Amino acid sequence: MALTPDQIERWERDGFLVIPDAIAPERCAELRDRAREIVDAFDPATVSIFSTHEQTRTSDEHFLSSGDAITCFFEEEAFGPDGELAAPKELAINKIGHAMHDLDPVFDRFSRQAPIADAARSIGLGDALLLQSMYIFKQPRIGGEVTCHQDSTFLFTDPMSVVGFWVAIEDATLDNGCLWAHPGGHRGPLRKRFVRDERDGTRFEELDPTPFPSPGGPDLVPLEAAAGTLVLLHGLLPHWSDVNRSDRSRHAFTVHVIDRAARYPEENWLRRGPDLPLRGWGATT
Ligand code: FE2
Repeated sequence: MALTPDQIERWERDGFLVIPDAIAPERCAELRDRAREIVDAFDPATVSIFSTHEQTRTSDEHFLSSGDAITCFFEEEAFGPDGELAAPKELAINKIGHAMHDLDPVFDRFSRQAPIADAARSIGLGDALLLQSMYIFKQPRIGGEVTCHQDSTFLFTDPMSVVGFWVAIEDATLDNGCLWAHPGGHRGPLRKRFVRDERDGTRFEELDPTPFPSPGGPDLVPLEAAAGTLVLLHGLLPHWSDVNRSDRSRHAFTVHVIDRAARYPEENWLRRGPDLPLRGWGATT
């Protein structure tokens, strides 16, 4: 269903839009089951710890080659001091990324379902390319913080066009690490870009010194979201999520899309091989 004029107005004003009950419970359950199957089949021998802290992400081949693959990443706190996995595999995975929407039929259907595609059309992204998908577990007790950031840092286009479509697969609350966002913050500058360097490692390129709003400060508002809620996030919107110290997981799915007409620079970390071209909302576009 298309967004209402009021929803579009709020989206333009805030840089995010929360749409409760957008996604049917059975679709969420189906995606959760499929994510569980992918984790069950995953061999943890090739390990990557995912974090937005700079030092752990740089030059990680496991991460850099995941743009056209289905890859599991571990929580930072999933390992004991001896480097051994301290929790069962299914409670230790931070996320699955980054091309399930093109490689897995269940994720493909979920990513391109009408409530998401219709919302995209309503905000001018009818002719978009689906660039990146993630299934985020935010595990009980060890679910990691995602530091305040803008998605355009990681998925840059010229002109900037990235929008994230985030779906609560389980209830996201203050206790289990819901999203927090800075209303209107999408009108601020892009702070930095995450780019590949010449040695095929990565680095952050500083663009603007404007600080991010502080977690716990007055500028960030919590986006508590019951399962089935769809949240649209502008690529320039500063957002943050806390650690999950509760005993409940906080599963979520995101698909990030870009305008087909925008330039996608070579130096972005996410790359697709020639065998897997980006696709739009329709199966054949
Ligand atoms: Fe993000």
